[in-house]
Formats: sequence, structure tokens, C-alpha cells
Amino acid sequence: MNSASFWDRSAAKYAKAPIPNEQVYEQKLVKTREYLNPHSKVLELGCGTGTTALNHAPYANHIDAWDISPKMLEIARRKQVQQHISNVSFHCGEANSIALPEQEYDLAMAHSVLHLIEDKEANLRAMYASLKPGGVLVSSTACLGNKMNWLKLIAKPMKWLGFWPSVYFFTSTQLEAAITRAGFTIEYSWLPPKAIAHFFIARKPH
Ligand SMILES: C[S@@+](CC[C@H](N)C(=O)[O-])C[C@H]1O[C@@H](n2cnc3c(N)ncnc32)[C@H](O)[C@@H]1O
Repeated sequence: MNSASFWDRSAAKYAKAPIPNEQVYEQKLVKTREYLNPHSKVLELGCGTGTTALNHAPYANHIDAWDISPKMLEIARRKQVQQHISNVSFHCGEANSIALPEQEYDLAMAHSVLHLIEDKEANLRAMYASLKPGGVLVSSTACLGNKMNWLKLIAKPMKWLGFWPSVYFFTSTQLEAAITRAGFTIEYSWLPPKAIAHFFIARKPH
């Protein structure tokens, strides 16, 4: 089963699941908004059902939000209509296969997705290229290598059984190094207590 069909199958359940830690999620939204203004052009990869893009929409000029799963996007577009939001465009595509415009965006987001992409380094380079000089990357990513390497033992059978997608293991330190290798300078780093997802904000130099 490929990634798109896994996420298509999971979409309805994912949409109904509560946000794991509302307070932490809210803090990440607030922090991200320090980097947004009414002129901001924003890119999001792996947007899922659009929750974060729709949350940020009132604080930006326009958001291009991409996901590999048509079903996730169907839900996102439904929510967009319900919320009367017109400045988000949802697109279908695999994160490393999209022809992103160069130096187009002020802010690029990738939340809970870099650990699902086989070549995250290529993806970080693509986001870097799509940002204007001085633009920022905002990423909240499961760093399963920090404490959950034991999950590697079950990752293959879980994928084979169709319960999990492909999942890639790295630590916070390894992710930070990958972000830096792509050319960014880390500006903000936050691993909330007991959390798996490390939140980074990193800037493309001017
Ligand atoms: C765990 S969900 C996160 C969704 C959303 N960013 C959030 O934080 O709620 C992962 C999302 O990434 C998408 N995805 C997985 N692999 C992808 C890829 N290679 N390219 C684009 N999207 C991908 C899935 O379809 C799914 O919607």
C-alpha cells in the first residue's frame, strides 16, 4: 500500500481525533504568528485535514497547502467552506515531487510529516529554495529516535499489516543538523516536556 492510500484510508478517523495536547498546539500557533503578517505568502506540506492552515489563514495573505492524500484534502476543503476562508488553496501532491516555485514564500510549514518522508533532506532543500531570502521554516516533527527506537521493531510488521505508513527514525539533534545542512539557521527550538514532536523555527539567510 502506498502512502496516499494509507492516508486516504485514515482520513475520516484522523479528522475526528482530538489534537493530542491543545495547549502545546495553541502555543505553537501563537509562536508561528510572530512570523506572519497580512502580506505573508505561506506554503504548507503534508497539511492533512487543513486544521493548521485554516487556523493561520486570517493572519496571512495566502496559504498554499499540499498533501498526498485526496481524502484528507476533501475534508480540508469541506472545513474551508464551513469556515468561510478564501485565502487557502489546497493542492494534491507528494512533498518531494511538487514543482515548487523558487523564492516565492515568506514562511513554509511541515507539521508531523518530515518523519514520513523518505528523503527529508531533499524536502528541506526544496522548502529552502521555495522561500524568499529571510523566509522561515516552521516544523513540528516526531523525533522518534529520541526515546522510541524500540518502535523500529514493530514498524515493519505494522506497515506490512497496513496499520502504519512508512516511518523514519531520527533524533532531535539529527533533525536540527539536517535543517542546518539545508542552509537554515535555527531561531527557535522547543521540545515540550514528554513530547515526541520537536518544534523548530529556522530562517533562510537574507
Ligand atoms: C500525521 S498527518 C499530519 C497532518 C497535519 N500536518 C497535522 O499536523 O495534523 C501526516 C500527513 O502528511 C501527509 N503525507 C504523508 N506523506 C506525505 C508525502 N510524502 N507528501 C505529502 N504529504 C504526505 C499525509 O497524507 C497526512 O495528511
